Amino acid sequence: MYPADDLEGAEERLRDFLVFRFGGPTRYIEQRGHPRLRMRHAPFAIDQAARDRWIELMTAALDESALPAAARAALEPFFAQVATFMINRGE
Ligand code: HEM
Repeated sequence: MYPADDLEGAEERLRDFLVFRFGGPTRYIEQRGHPRLRMRHAPFAIDQAARDRWIELMTAALDESALPAAARAALEPFFAQVATFMINRGE
């Protein structure tokens, strides 16, 4: 689903969003405005399987990044909840 010609941009948008969301600099807001994540995900068909795959890949990324336990404990439930909220197909 991600733009093959702009993976770096997609990575930057997600990174800036997370930095902002967890209290860091607000570059995401300055460049993208209000997140409106459900609306921004509407063009992509996200069903339960897509949500679960996204979480599977993000979990592998978290494993690789070897974050401090407290940071991981904050991120994981957040990802799980927002990913479920992004489901826009099926049911
Ligand atoms: C449920 C599975 C998910 C799928 C399949 C998915 C897919 C996508 C795709 C295809 C894009 C467009 C890439 C781009 O920026 O060009 C995108 C954008 C984005 N996603 Fe997701 N996403 C998922 C879950 C999440 C979650 C859980 C978060 C946050 C914790 C998130 C945050 C974002 C953000 C911040 C953007 C950029 C929005 C913008 O400013 O345009 N996504 N996502």
